[in-house]
Amino acid sequence: MSARAGIAVRSVSRSWADNAIWLIEADARRSADTHLLRYPLPSAWSTHFDIALYLKDESTHITGSLKHRLARSLFLYALCNGWIGEGTTIVEASSGSAAISEAYFASLLGLQFVAVMPASTSSAKVALIESQGGRCHFVQNSSEVYAEAQRVAEETGGHYMDQFTNAERATDWRGNNNIAESIFAQMRDEQHPIPEWIVVGAGTGGTSATIGRYIRYRRHATGLCVVDPENSAFFPAYAGQRYDVVTASSRIEGIGRPRVEPSFLPDVVDRMVAVPDAASIAAARHVSTVLGRRVGPSTGTNLWGAFGLLAEMVAAGRSGSVVTLIADSGDRYADTYFSDEWVADQGLDLTGPAQALVEFERYCSWI
Ligand SMILES: Cc1ncc(COP(=O)(O)O)c(C=O)c1O
Repeated sequence: MSARAGIAVRSVSRSWADNAIWLIEADARRSADTHLLRYPLPSAWSTHFDIALYLKDESTHITGSLKHRLARSLFLYALCNGWIGEGTTIVEASSGSAAISEAYFASLLGLQFVAVMPASTSSAKVALIESQGGRCHFVQNSSEVYAEAQRVAEETGGHYMDQFTNAERATDWRGNNNIAESIFAQMRDEQHPIPEWIVVGAGTGGTSATIGRYIRYRRHATGLCVVDPENSAFFPAYAGQRYDVVTASSRIEGIGRPRVEPSFLPDVVDRMVAVPDAASIAAARHVSTVLGRRVGPSTGTNLWGAFGLLAEMVAAGRSGSVVTLIADSGDRYADTYFSDEWVADQGLDLTGPAQALVEFERYCSWI
C-alpha cells in the first residue's frame, strides 16, 4: 500500500491472478461432469412399488470426492477477492478430502499448500496430499484444526482458506453447474424427475446449503434431508434450535463436526436424521457389495438415510424418486471402515444394522 496526496494504491499483481483464474477455468473445461447412477433396487419390487433411487457419483472427480467442486470454488473466490497472489502459501483446516482437492489446485497454480488435519486422518489421504506436493500438519482433535490453521497461515504469511466459513458463500447457489443444477438437469428424463428427497451429509454444510437454496430458488417440491453421524454438533443443534452446541469428534470421515460450522444453514434443511456409526459402516459395506466397488463411510450414512425415506414413501403409498451422493470412494478406507479388526477395535457391532439392510431389501421395511 502506498499513499500520496490523497491517493492510495494497492500493488497486487492482477496479471498473476488473471492467469491463475484462466488455469482453473481451463482445468474445469477439460473435466467432465459426474454421473448420476440409478441404484439397483431389488427387481422383485418393481411390480409392487414405483420408487427409484439415484446416486450422484462425486467420487469420479479428478481428486476423488465432492470436495473437488468446493476446492475450485474456494480458489476462485479467494482469487477474485484478492486474497491470494503469486507465492501465497495456502493453508486449510480439513478432515482430508478437501485438503486433497485443494492440494491439487495449489499445485496447478504453483503455490505451497499446508493441510491442518486430525492425527486420525487416513494414511491414504495423507499420501494423496503429499503426492501433490502438499504438507500435512496434524493436531490431536478435530476441534483444534481451526485455530492451528489460522496460526500456520500467520506464521507462513499465507492465506487460511477456511472452508468451514466460506463453503456456502464461495459456491454459486443459483447455478453455474453447481451440484444441485447438475442433479436436476440429469434427472430431467426420468420417470420421477423432481425427487421427493435429496439426502446429503454435512461437513462444512456447503453442499446442503447449495442444494437447499437451489431447491427454493427453482421452487421445486423436493425436501432436503441431512444425515448426521454420532458425535456431531449439527443434529443436536438442529433438533434443539441451539447453535452453540459443541461435541466430540465424528468417526465418519468427511461429515459431522464438533461445532456448528458457519456454512451450515439449518433453515434450508427440511429434515435431519441421526445415523449411528455402525449403521453408516454397515450400509457402506452393503452398498459396496451391491455396486461391486467400495464407497466411503459417509456414502453409507447417505444411503442409510435414503433407504429410510424410500421405506417411508412406500409405507405411505407414495411413488417417486430419492437422490443421494457417493461422496468418495471406499478405497481410501481399506484399513479402517472395511477392516473387521478396526471395526472391532472401535467397539462397533455391525450385526443389527446389517440385518436391517437385509430386511429392507426383502420387504422395503425400515426399523
Ligand atoms: C467425504 C465427504 N466430505 C464432505 C462431505 C460434506 O460436504 P460439505 O463440506 O459440503 O458439507 C461429505 C458429505 O457427504 C462427504 O462425504
